[in-house]
Formats: sequence, structure tokens, C-alpha cells
Amino acid sequence: MNGLFITFEGTEGSGKSTRIQWLAERLRTMNRTLRVLREPGGTPIGEEIRHTLKHSQQNHAMTAEAELLLMSASRAQLVRQVIRPALAAGEVVLCDRFCDSTIAYQGYGRRLDLNLVRAVIDFAVGETRPHLTLLLSVPIEVSETRRLARQQTMLLDVPVRAKKSEGDAKLAFSEPLRDRMEEADRDFFERVEHGYKTIAAAEPRRVCVIDSTRPLEVVKAAVWQRVEALLAEAQTG
Ligand code: TMP
Repeated sequence: MNGLFITFEGTEGSGKSTRIQWLAERLRTMNRTLRVLREPGGTPIGEEIRHTLKHSQQNHAMTAEAELLLMSASRAQLVRQVIRPALAAGEVVLCDRFCDSTIAYQGYGRRLDLNLVRAVIDFAVGETRPHLTLLLSVPIEVSETRRLARQQTMLLDVPVRAKKSEGDAKLAFSEPLRDRMEEADRDFFERVEHGYKTIAAAEPRRVCVIDSTRPLEVVKAAVWQRVEALLAEAQTG
């Protein structure tokens, strides 16, 4: 049996990680074998690339082109090392972000040529594409407020981390204190948002837009409705 590949997309603060965790729990209760992954990251190499992209003290001068290639390098590794083998073994793969993030952030957000971005994506992932993408949508104001609150928390976290035990000292000082991706301005995030809307309009069968501002139970029900339909479809072949 071939596996199922489900991705979650959305801007900062759209609630992807909590929805993924909830879906993972639900699928586990059905005894489905699962992989829960994130991008950039998900492999030891990918996690190092993630650090370079987001938190490294050296990343201020990173160009949009380097960003695109690093995102794609992490993904090329993840696809071959984890996703393809998992799908071949019949597992369900849940991934926090995938190619649509690259179109939205590097294509629309950083304004790199969309055809070029698509060509790089093709090279990185080949035929490995999600069966279903759940795009969690929140208004830009909500996303901005959550993003700024997170930045505040990171700053406030510093003394707390520093107070931890000796053993934690390295962690305390090597942990991220800033996130380069989140330092972009509002226009950037508006373009990302527009990018996601364009992707969803172009591929309505694969991309399901879910209003993430609705009550949690309603959002969970919307997620489950689409996943259940996909599971049923896969069973009937
Ligand atoms: P997150 O894991 O907290 O969502 O952080 C990942 C960041 O990387 C987020 O700002 C979106 C960004 N990103 C891209 O710009 N392009 C990509 O292809 C991916 C996967 C993520």
C-alpha cells in the first residue's frame, strides 16, 4: 500500500503545529504509522540548514537566492532520506510546510522569478508531491500580533534559560534568540499571504483552505473531514 502525504501550510501564527499534533494523535489512535516532519529541517542535515536560515548569527546578509537554495537543499535531503521511504512503506507523512512555502515566501515574498523557483522545486522533489495540503488561514493582523508576541517571548526567555543548570548552559547560549525569517516587514508577509491565496485558487482539489480563526473544535472538524475523505479515497484505490 502506498502511503499518504499531507502538508500543512500557512503564515506565521496560523496554528499549524498544534493542528498537526492533534491530527497525529487522532491518526495514531487509528493505528496508522506516522511521520511528523517539519521544513526546513526533519533530518540532521536539514536541521543544520534550518539553524543557518533562521537563527545563525551569520545569516543577516543572506540573499534571497541563497535562501531559496538552502530551503531546497533541506527538502531534497528530507524527500530522499525520509519521505520517499516512508511513503513506500505505506506510512502517513504529515509535514509542517513543503513546496508551497517556497512559492509563497521565496517566490511571492522575496519576489524571485516564479518559473525559476518552480524549476528549483522540481529539481529538489521530483514527483514527490503532497496528496493533500491544509492551508490554515488567519488575517495578516492576527499573524503579525502572534509573530511579534513570539519575538517578545524569545527576548524575555533569555534570563530564564541562562538560569538553568550547568548542563543546560550550552543550550542556553546556543538556542535561538532571533528568527531571521520573522524579521521581514509587513509588505513581505502581505505578499506571502497573496501567494498562498493564488496557490489555493490554482489547485483547489489539493489545497484546502481552513479558516484558522474559528473555534478550535470547528477547525479540527474541518481538518478531519478532508483527511477522512483522503483515507477513504486511498482505501478504495
Ligand atoms: P516555522 O517552522 O516556524 O514555520 O519556520 C519556518 C520559516 O521558514 C517560516 O518563516 C517560513 C519559512 N520558509 C520559507 O521561507 N520557505 C520554505 O520553503 C519553507 C519550508 C519555510
